Amino acid sequence: MLNGKKVLFIITGGIAAYKSLELVRKLKEKGAEVIPVMTKAAENFVTPMSVSALAQEKVYNKLFDLTDEAEMGHIELSRSADLIVVVPASADFIAKTATGQANDLASTIILATDTKVLMAPAMNVRMWKNPLTQKNIKTLDENGIKFVGPNEGEMACGEFGFGRMAEADEILKEIEVYFSDKKLKGLHFVVTSGPTREPIDPVRFISNRSSGLQGGAIANKLVEYGAEVTFITGPVNLDPPHGANVISVETADEMYSAVHSSLPADAAVFTAAVADWKIKKTEQQKLKKQTGNLPAFNLTENKDILASVSKMKKNRPKIVVGFAAETENILENAKSKLMKKGCDFIVVNDVSLGTQTMGGIENTAIIVSDNEVETLPTMSKRALAEILVKKISRSLEEMDA
Ligand code: CTP
Repeated sequence: MLNGKKVLFIITGGIAAYKSLELVRKLKEKGAEVIPVMTKAAENFVTPMSVSALAQEKVYNKLFDLTDEAEMGHIELSRSADLIVVVPASADFIAKTATGQANDLASTIILATDTKVLMAPAMNVRMWKNPLTQKNIKTLDENGIKFVGPNEGEMACGEFGFGRMAEADEILKEIEVYFSDKKLKGLHFVVTSGPTREPIDPVRFISNRSSGLQGGAIANKLVEYGAEVTFITGPVNLDPPHGANVISVETADEMYSAVHSSLPADAAVFTAAVADWKIKKTEQQKLKKQTGNLPAFNLTENKDILASVSKMKKNRPKIVVGFAAETENILENAKSKLMKKGCDFIVVNDVSLGTQTMGGIENTAIIVSDNEVETLPTMSKRALAEILVKKISRSLEEMDA
C-alpha cells in the first residue's frame, strides 16, 4: 500500500498522456496522495478537469501564479513530495530537463528538487533512438533520474518499436518498489562487467566488443534495491554505477583475483565478456613487423571465473548467475553451459552478426535455469536488468522462506 505517500505527478504533452489518468486512479486506490502538475502541451491531450477529479487535488500548471505562490510556491512544491513521477515524459521534456532548463512549472520542479524522480518516456521510435535523445537519457541517468520503459510495441503514430510508454501497472510496480523496504538491503553482490584485455605486447591486446552496459545496468538496479555491490569491471567507456564499490581491472587474471578477494557474497552475477585466452608469454617490447614473417602467438586458456565461484565447496554465493554469448544453437549451448559451469541461472544472448547485442542498448535474452526456460522479448538492457534483479531477489527470498 502507498498510504500516506505523496507523489508529485507531472504530465507532459504526448498521446500517452491518457494512460496517466489510469495511473493516477491506481495510485489513489493504493492510498497515495497525488499532486498533479501539467505542462501546457499536456493539456492538449488530457484536461486539467479530469486529472483534478481523479487526483482529488487541484492541478498546478503555472510557474508564476499569485494564488499558488501564496499557498505553495514552486520550490516548496518540488520539495513536498516523497517521489516525483513524469508520466509521460516527452522527448521535449527529457531534452529540457537534461539541459537544466526551467521555463515552466514542471521543468522548474525537476531542476529545483532533491526528491527522487521517475520518468516514463513515451515518443516515436525514431525520436527515442535518436542519439540526441539517448544522450539526454544518459545525462539524466547519470544525475540519478530513474526510468521505467519505454517498451517495444505498436505506437499511436502507426509505427512499431521502442518508444511506447510503459503500462500503468508497470509504472505502479516501480513506484511500489521505490516505497517498499529496500528488498536486498544488507546483502552483498559481486558483479563482473565489460571486456577483459589480454596483452600481446606493450601496445597490443586481445579483447572483444563488450560495452559493459548490461553489467552496469544490473549493478545500478541492485544498488536501487538496497544491495551492497562490488562491481568489477574491465576497461569500458561508461561512468561506474553510482553507489557501488568499483574495482577496475584489465586482464582475466586480475578479474579472477578481484572476484575471489571480494567474496563472500550472497549472490554473484557474471556479465563480463572474459577473454577465453591470453598470450602465454607477453612480449616486453613492441613486436616489430617483419614483412613475410608473421608472428606466432602462443595462447593459453584463462581461468574460468564463473565456474570457479559456482563450484566453490565453502561459502559459495547462494545464487550465481552467468551470461552466455552465443551465435548458434542458442538454447542448447546455454543449457550445457549451465551444467558445465555449475551456476544457477544462465542469461543467454544471441550475439550473432546483425543483432547488435554486444555494444548495443538492447538485448534479446533467454533466462535458463535447471527447471525453467524464460524467453524474453527484445528490450533495453535496463529493462532486462530489472527482470533479472527481481528474479534473483525472489529466489533469495524463497531460499530464506
Ligand atoms: N566467464 C568467466 N570466466 C571466463 C570465461 C567466461 O567468468 N574465463 C563467464 C562469463 O562472465 C559469462 C559466462 O562465463 O558469465 C559465459 O561466457 P561465454 O564467453 O559465453 O562462455 P565461455 O565459457 O567463454 O564459452 P564459449 O566461448 O565457448 O562460448
